[in-house]
Amino acid sequence: MGREFVDIFDGWADSYDASVSGKDPEYRDVFEGYETILSEVANRVSGTIIEFGTGTGNLTAKLLEAGFSVIGIEPNTKMLEVTAKRFPSINLIDGDLLEFDVQNENIDAFVSTYVFHHLTDDEKGIALKKYANLLSKNGKVVFADTVFLTEEAKKAQIAKERNRGFLNVVEDLEREYYTTIPKLKELFTEAGFQVEFVKMNDYVWLMDATKK
Ligand SMILES: C[S@@+](CC[C@H](N)C(=O)[O-])C[C@H]1O[C@@H](n2cnc3c(N)ncnc32)[C@H](O)[C@@H]1O
Repeated sequence: MGREFVDIFDGWADSYDASVSGKDPEYRDVFEGYETILSEVANRVSGTIIEFGTGTGNLTAKLLEAGFSVIGIEPNTKMLEVTAKRFPSINLIDGDLLEFDVQNENIDAFVSTYVFHHLTDDEKGIALKKYANLLSKNGKVVFADTVFLTEEAKKAQIAKERNRGFLNVVEDLEREYYTTIPKLKELFTEAGFQVEFVKMNDYVWLMDATKK
C-alpha cells in the first residue's frame, strides 16, 4: 500500500537534484523556491524527527544542520543509498508513509516534502491517525506537497500544462493522488490535529499540523 510509485524514482535518483534546481523546465514551477520550502518545514519542528521519502537527502540536510535527530524512512533503494552515502551516521530505514518500524522512540514530529501525494486520500487518513497515536500533545506533522484549492483548480492546472506541452507533468498529476486543501483539512481534523496551510508556490502548500 502506498508503494505503487516507488520504482519511478529508480530513473530519477541520478537527475533529481538537477530537477529541483530548475534545470528541467517542465518541473520548474513545481520546484520553485525549493530551498525555502525545505527550510520552512525544518523551521517548524524540533527534537526527534521522522522524515518520510528522504530522496537525495536535501530536507535531511536542513534538519541535521538545525541539530535535530533524524530517522529517515525511504522505500526506494537507490534513493536510500544516496541519503545513506551522504549521511552515513543517521538512522535510515526501508519503509514508507504507512509502514515503518520505529520502536521505543519518542517522536516529536513527522516531516516530508513532495511525498504525501503517494497515498490515496483514504490512506492519508489512516497514516495521519497512525502519526497522531505516536505523538504526544503538541507533537507536529509538517508536510509540504503539491495540493490544489479545489478539483476545478487541479483540472485547470492540468489543462495549462497540457497546453504548454509539459506532458510529463500532466502524466504525473493524473497518475498520483494529488488532493485538495478542504480534503486535507478534513483528514487532519479527523485524526485529532489543528492544521494550517501556507501557499509556497503555484503547486506546493505547506501543511503545519499540531496534535491537540
Ligand atoms: C519527489 S521525491 C522527494 C524527495 C525529497 N523529500 C525532496 O523533497 O527532495 C519523493 C520521494 O518519496 C519516496 N516515496 C515514494 N513513495 C513513498 C511512500 N509511499 N512513502 C514514503 N516515501 C515514498 C520516493 O522514493 C522519493 O524518494
